[in-house]
Amino acid sequence: MELQALIYFLFFTFTTLFLLFSLSLFIRHNYPCNCNICTSFITRTWTTEFVNLSDWYTHLLRKSRTGTIHIHVLNNIITANPDNVEYMLKTNFDNYPKGKPFSAILGDLLGRGIFNVDGSCWNFQRKLASLELGSVSIRSHVLNILEVEIQSVLIPFFTSVADNEEPVILDLQDVFRRFSFDSICKFSFGLDPGSLNLSELELAFDLSSKLCAERGMATSLVWKIKRFFNMGSERTLKSSINIVKRKADEVIKNRRGSGSGSSQDLLSRFMGSISDDDMLRDIVISFLLAGRDTVASALTGFFLLLSQNPKVLNKIREESDRVIGSTRETVPSFEELKQLHYLHAALHESMRLYPPVQFDSKFTKQDDVLPDGTFVKRGSRVTYHPYAMGRMERIWGSDSLEFKPERWIRDGEFKQESAYKYPVYQGGIRVCLGKELSLVEMKSVALCLVRRFDVRVVNPNGQLRFALGLTATVSGGLHAVVRQRECVKDV
Ligand code: HEM
Repeated sequence: MELQALIYFLFFTFTTLFLLFSLSLFIRHNYPCNCNICTSFITRTWTTEFVNLSDWYTHLLRKSRTGTIHIHVLNNIITANPDNVEYMLKTNFDNYPKGKPFSAILGDLLGRGIFNVDGSCWNFQRKLASLELGSVSIRSHVLNILEVEIQSVLIPFFTSVADNEEPVILDLQDVFRRFSFDSICKFSFGLDPGSLNLSELELAFDLSSKLCAERGMATSLVWKIKRFFNMGSERTLKSSINIVKRKADEVIKNRRGSGSGSSQDLLSRFMGSISDDDMLRDIVISFLLAGRDTVASALTGFFLLLSQNPKVLNKIREESDRVIGSTRETVPSFEELKQLHYLHAALHESMRLYPPVQFDSKFTKQDDVLPDGTFVKRGSRVTYHPYAMGRMERIWGSDSLEFKPERWIRDGEFKQESAYKYPVYQGGIRVCLGKELSLVEMKSVALCLVRRFDVRVVNPNGQLRFALGLTATVSGGLHAVVRQRECVKDV
């Protein structure tokens, strides 16, 4: 009896001590910090002054002496300091992987795809993809896709809208999202919009990326429990991911059956080197995610800024008339695109102010100190913030908020800025693989539209509200009216 009482006593004491210890750990890690920034974050008082979280962060980063802030309650260091950005993306790259918290969020959709992995799995895919995307043959493949999409889809669509008696208001962002989805599907999978039920794929893909982004806003325990019990949004996410994967598997199976033959798309190019079909599918889905909303977001920002700055629009038109003539209808060649320095500058300038990826985070492997002296504890999230960086006077000068493509031109030619001052395509060892391709796509679309149409955003100076998500998306879309350009009509 005495022994039993002793065991009960020991058990009770141990459990109580264990609970007290856990509670103290919990409080240490989660007790809200009462610094001004954390208090404003928790109580959301920042919303009284700012519409977007990115604008509030920009304000804080501008005020910070080092260009770095720490949101303690999120264990998140945010930086707009180019030295720090270079350090995390290049100098000490190995210490700043994407990390498990990020890959868990996108893992169900992207699996082991390049966008979502670190280490040797990433390295292998990176080498393969760099080789393919750097090849000369991929360029003509891209231009062929764009020529077809622009001539047979985009121009007829804009023409029908422009020719309507009553002005039609269209959502530019939505049009660009559809266009870039079609283009990236063709580029990655070789999918012809007529060959498969694309709209189901598009809807499923949309829903999957949106719900994955929502995971990022929730506590990981919450979505993991919902996923375990297959409840609510996690249930929807699971079924939309299944649709995306099923479609991709179908294409891979058919292609294996028929042989890649003369197909130029990424899938066929990767097939020769990768025999694991699940891995193939994951890579291709990563490309869909990386190349779709980013391009649409960049084009949306670009047309907004052109509506606000008609002088820039005129200069783009003048340059294109000079380089490719005023009546040419086909998509310009690579050589011609390369000569359009002002257009190239205008696109870079618009992404400086409206970067498609407004911020991007890594998770620290080991304790570290950033070049500006900020101590980073192991496991902390470190975020570089292209949106804030594009709006910093100390980086771009006192006219940092003005849209001035000229700042990218020296002696009549485009001059690239450091990727760490302008990390719109990231930079360093994991720099975006689709940079060149995206610029060709954006230039081709921009030219075809500005040369034929007047695209006027309905409320160009209104305050933009961004939806939460992986890529910058304007809440409610960007509404515009389209008319044929008078001089084009007369040709
Ligand atoms: C304006 C358009 C684009 C912008 C601003 C952009 C930006 C970025 C950024 C910031 C990253 C780093 C993301 C991260 O590591 O968390 C990235 C990675 C990547 N991008 Fe892009 N991107 C664009 C278009 C494209 C296109 C069209 C493609 C595909 C053809 C593409 C393919 C990729 C890939 C594969 C990666 C992963 C690279 C790696 O992890 O090694 N991107 N991009």
